[in-house]
Amino acid sequence: MDIQRHQKAVALYPGSFDPLTLGHIDLITRAARLFDNLVVAVVENPSKHALFSVEERMAMLKENCSKFDNVEVDSFEGLLVNFAQRRNASVLIRGIRAISDYEYELQMALMNRRLQPDLETVFLLAGEAYSFISSRMVKEVFALGGDVSGLVPPTTLERLRLRIRKA
Ligand code: PNS
Repeated sequence: MDIQRHQKAVALYPGSFDPLTLGHIDLITRAARLFDNLVVAVVENPSKHALFSVEERMAMLKENCSKFDNVEVDSFEGLLVNFAQRRNASVLIRGIRAISDYEYELQMALMNRRLQPDLETVFLLAGEAYSFISSRMVKEVFALGGDVSGLVPPTTLERLRLRIRKA
């Protein structure tokens, strides 16, 4: 699958987004500047327990991506490379926060390359201000009563309040 110069480059940013953080939004902003079209896709993984449903995670993304005219939100299950093919994506976007992310990301990128050699993984560096944020830690800190404002968009904060404080 050669990228023709006249074709628009579609990039795919997959993830769990459970929940969406400002780190994710930073990555989306950077990727949207680099590529003609960006598909942000929430994984539907029945074996992984998520706090938010796929619909809720997509809603959080849509609420925060409406300002970009080249960003679309979608979801997928099964192999990422198959979804990338269905969406005509030639690039996968993944964020690297610290060197500790690299090992897992490298493994995943090489596996995806083996499965689909024409699909390139592009690593983007999250902004320094976001380099310590992870969805897992946001959930833990919030559940224990810590302040996560400034780490997540207001829509995520509201959903966390409704979900965790209610429980
Ligand atoms: O935000 P995450 O949890 O780090 O995202 C991981 C994700 C969704 C990109 C990864 O788990 C994935 O691609 N899952 C789909 C199944 C698949 O294709 N697995 C093989 C890739 S190594």
